[in-house]
Amino acid sequence: MSKEIEDHRLLNRSANEPFSSVLEKHVSRRRVMQGGLGMAAMAMLGGFGLSGLSGRAEAAGAEKTPLSLAFDAIRGSRTDAVVVPDGYTAQVLIPWGTPLNGQAPDWREDLAFTPEIQANSVGMHHDGMHNFALDESSASRRFVLAMNNEYIDQAALWAPKGGATNAEEGKRPADEVRTEINAHGVTLVELEKGDGGRWRHVADSAYNRRYTSATEMALSGPVAGSDYVRTRYSPDGTLTRGTNNNCANGYTPWGTYLTCEENWPGYFVKNAERQRDDQRLGVSEGRGRYGWETAAGDASERNDEFARFNATPTGASAVDDYRNEPRTFGYIVEIDPYTGERAVKRTALGRFRHEGCWPGKLVAGEPVVFYSGHDARNEYIYKFVSEALWDPADANRPGASYDRLALGAKYMDAGTLYVARFEADGRGEWLPLTPGAETRDGRTLAEALGLAADDQAGVIIHTCDAADLMGATPMDRPEWGAVDPATGEVYMTLTNNSQRTEEGTAATYTNDGGDIQEAGVGYATAPTNAANPRAENEGGQVIRWREDAGSTRFDWEVFVFGAAVGDAENVSGLTELNQFASPDGLHYDDRGDGQGILWIQTDNGYAGVTEYTNDQLLAVVPQNVSRAEGDASVVGGGNQAQLKRFAVGPNGCEVTGICLTPDKTAMFINIQHPGNWPAGDDATVETRGSVRARASTVVIQREDGGIIGV
Ligand code: FEO
Ligand code: CA
Ligand code: CA
Ligand code: CA
Repeated sequence: MSKEIEDHRLLNRSANEPFSSVLEKHVSRRRVMQGGLGMAAMAMLGGFGLSGLSGRAEAAGAEKTPLSLAFDAIRGSRTDAVVVPDGYTAQVLIPWGTPLNGQAPDWREDLAFTPEIQANSVGMHHDGMHNFALDESSASRRFVLAMNNEYIDQAALWAPKGGATNAEEGKRPADEVRTEINAHGVTLVELEKGDGGRWRHVADSAYNRRYTSATEMALSGPVAGSDYVRTRYSPDGTLTRGTNNNCANGYTPWGTYLTCEENWPGYFVKNAERQRDDQRLGVSEGRGRYGWETAAGDASERNDEFARFNATPTGASAVDDYRNEPRTFGYIVEIDPYTGERAVKRTALGRFRHEGCWPGKLVAGEPVVFYSGHDARNEYIYKFVSEALWDPADANRPGASYDRLALGAKYMDAGTLYVARFEADGRGEWLPLTPGAETRDGRTLAEALGLAADDQAGVIIHTCDAADLMGATPMDRPEWGAVDPATGEVYMTLTNNSQRTEEGTAATYTNDGGDIQEAGVGYATAPTNAANPRAENEGGQVIRWREDAGSTRFDWEVFVFGAAVGDAENVSGLTELNQFASPDGLHYDDRGDGQGILWIQTDNGYAGVTEYTNDQLLAVVPQNVSRAEGDASVVGGGNQAQLKRFAVGPNGCEVTGICLTPDKTAMFINIQHPGNWPAGDDATVETRGSVRARASTVVIQREDGGIIGV
């Protein structure tokens, strides 16, 4: 069940051809090619030449044992319980409020949170996560889990006193704000498998720690030290505090965690003229999402801990106030999960509403690549290509002590950021976001943005505007990505876009000067295109692409379209055993021999599917499906049974965050914002009566201890 913390305003007003329009043209062309009306809907959705991505089946080689999913797909469910296939168990682990050390008490239903308790306990609203081995030999039995805590449920947090104080208007009490700040961010916690296969967290482990929305962090890369980020707290523009609204995640080959700042603009207010990037990203007037800025001036306030959420200029210059504080957010943040060192915001990877960050195929002697999506209607897909070439000697050595963040600086502070253009014929182009890049109208990007000729920091601050000027393709809300390490193919979920319109739709908006202008792109107006082919797209889709070797070109196609059974737009032919909508989480679970399982998680609010089932986790072996000639997507044309529903979450939740032990016997997923769950340690037990809802990790294992999925 989707929770509305996104920003649905029209923020992208560039005139770029939206993905939906590219897709529609593609469809029309295919219609003509196929000459059949029955195929029209499918044709409009196909992204490719007739053959699809080449080389898919061959990649696995001839000797392999074919991988196949051995569980029975489960039916939909709408209960206060997790449902898994027969033969599997689901255990509740580290729910919100679990103490990480002796400075926080054990959880109880009437526990009254304080800033100190929350800072020493698991945060709220579990999201992206990754497991970091402590040594290779025990990696499947013991590891540090790094996990995002995206946002909060004030009703659950403040349940003992009946809710938050002055939630909607008036001054928020300082300690409530500190507690809420500490419920956000990242939790690091050591987990181990005990007797009987039960998992537990290691109380008082030296690895247990929190990074919150108050923790000091460094800025690195092009923006660090620039005029754009000077504040009263950091006059030289090298530091900031906190990371916020951390949604999906990533990790690096050198053993660090990446946490990604998504819907952070809503935490700031700016009651003054807003700059171009404020407007584009949605930093607004009025009151912040939780009103944290209203605690400013409290007698207990230290170091402007609340004032910094108000970006209204009040001083003589930027170093006298927090006008630039929002410019210290919107980044990929690197954390060394082993040491607790100061986290670093890697600004070279762009500034937007980062959903997550996924490393591409790793090749010795070639650049390191990271993919990232901007989750907002009609925003873009990006990739970063490092200047430094990958040295396998830099690969993570669990248990060894060395400076992993220095490796982060090596590979993530210098490189080129690109944005994607999807073409109607199934090809695409990565467009560089550098000051000297040539925009569609023949100017340099720096000139078009009004920046100095070498101002890469300015390009990063204005990443989205730069992408507009280069002609990127607006997408249906890019969420998670996943990479097949054998082929380098990248999968990405496009969750939905309820306001995507038919091709040819034009609309107007009133600009800040009061002029009525034509809106080329935007949530109210964006027409369909090849990669985003459906108007009022509630089902969403998963796309995939494959890079051309040694060039900025790529091939793309639609992997599967979400839909409800009976939908006219159920072009992938989904059934009761796999219908879904709004794909969000995604994980490529590599099983060797060029084969793997693609796991798809949902964050759905589309009634056609919510009437049948809560949010869910599905599985498919991509090597076992290929796009039939004339089909619009890879899943379809008779192979639908290959996509199987594996788990369903409790009422009200979204299913997110996913990782597995290296031996593939334990899968960890997150249940975010459940309505009335969990009832105890067994995730599959349905809640009786009502409980104080807690987001939680769930460990899924086979009763016989075997390998998940097969
Ligand atoms: Fe936090 Fe895009 O979901
Ligand atoms: Ca979410
Ligand atoms: Ca998400
Ligand atoms: Ca979502």
